[in-house]
Amino acid sequence: MVMSSESAAAVEAPPVQAAGPEPFEPGRDPASPNRNLTPITTEVDVKGRLQVGGCVLSDLARTFGTPLYVLDEATLRASCRAYSRALSQAYPGPSLALYASKANSSVAITALVAQEGLGLDAVSAGELLTALAGGMPPERIVLHGNNKSLEELALAADRGVTVVADNWRDIELLTELAPQLRQPVRLMLRFTPGIECHTHEYIRTGHLDSKFGFDPDQLETVLQHLAACGWARLTGLHAHIGSQIFELQPHRDLAGVMADGLQLARSLGHPVTDLNVGGGLGIRYVVSDDPPTIEDWVRTVAGAVAQACRDRNLELPRLLCEPGRSLVATAGLTLYTVGSRKTIPGLRTYLAVDGGMSDNPRPITYQSPYTAVLADRPGAEASETVTVAGKHCESGDVLLKDIALPPATSGDLLAVFATGAYNASMASNYNRIPRPAAVLVHDGMADLVQRREQPEDLLRYDVLPARLTPVI
Ligand code: LLP
Repeated sequence: MVMSSESAAAVEAPPVQAAGPEPFEPGRDPASPNRNLTPITTEVDVKGRLQVGGCVLSDLARTFGTPLYVLDEATLRASCRAYSRALSQAYPGPSLALYASKANSSVAITALVAQEGLGLDAVSAGELLTALAGGMPPERIVLHGNNKSLEELALAADRGVTVVADNWRDIELLTELAPQLRQPVRLMLRFTPGIECHTHEYIRTGHLDSKFGFDPDQLETVLQHLAACGWARLTGLHAHIGSQIFELQPHRDLAGVMADGLQLARSLGHPVTDLNVGGGLGIRYVVSDDPPTIEDWVRTVAGAVAQACRDRNLELPRLLCEPGRSLVATAGLTLYTVGSRKTIPGLRTYLAVDGGMSDNPRPITYQSPYTAVLADRPGAEASETVTVAGKHCESGDVLLKDIALPPATSGDLLAVFATGAYNASMASNYNRIPRPAAVLVHDGMADLVQRREQPEDLLRYDVLPARLTPVI
């Protein structure tokens, strides 16, 4: 086990009983953090308390309050390195992994990912400005979106960010902007590849009912159109087939479809150098999840792209991919304080925590399962089956249904794992509940990277028309 703490107190973690009949092991595989349930620096100290990044979780809760997003720097860096290493080993040409920042967009995460040499995928002016503020070089950023505004396109073009043209409207708006531009716009073209993935199955069709990208039938027309646009420099093609995918075959099939697109684009005179195969690699949320390693995923994608290009006699493009979840999910966990407890005899026991669907909307949105332990007693026998509910006025506000935990009472601290992706970035203020703080832990230190919202912050954008001002 990785000993991240300077303190001699850290000891080898025993298997932890939680969230089901099987014990789970704290994350131990730094080569592919997406396969671990917990951050790679997770340990149990001599007092039996869980620590991550050398920080005792209950100390973090005392210092920063709960709910609290905790992000382990070592895990995030290990994931970045796993992608970069695998790409350079498995792909014979140049390559770059772009962090899909929709998974968790913040200035601090961007800075880390930029330091690790990755690029970034943004889908809005907000994500783009965050990336620029975090020091991501514009030439390593791509801007996605199926309905970009003129302002978003102008910002990207002005900063030298690559725009992923998703539809004709993008091209119309860029044509409108062209007279004001100082440089040609670096463009990629997104198309729907006819490969549809649900988590555990996929289908191939000629056309897809998707709001993203050009229909494959339109590809030739749009490529011809762009060849006549002086403002456009088409540098690449893009496709993305889905998220939380455990299968590798759809990615192999995608390579062939994209290589066909590359051949077509080059035959029409576009010097296309980049193939961007999107993201999608799944992670382990619960013990029974068994995603491929980052290395296997990259080896499959890289091998298939190289082979498809060889088969068509095409010069190798630069290979880009856009992992989001698999880079950041298992680096994160959320700490909650247990509050009320309600037992319905013969039916269910509810434990309510101080957050819920506003800081993690994934269970209510996708029925996503999670794994949790009591942060100060991770090794205690999980002798009760409980349902962990949030504090929102909604019966469906349940974070974990029927999980095994040691008997817990108010004041106990619950750690929910693998919340580093699509939690903070999808958080809301439902019920006017402020969003949690986020801390980055590393070598026994915790840095605040997102301040906790205060209830008063939520009033900042309210405007009371004068005629409604209460007369006192
Ligand atoms: N590239 C594009 C164009 C995407 O649309 C996405 C995700 C990614 C990359 C990153 O995919 P990843 O590696 O994270 O699977 N909110 C959902 C996930 C939505 C993913 C949307 N697109 C969830 O919480 O499961």
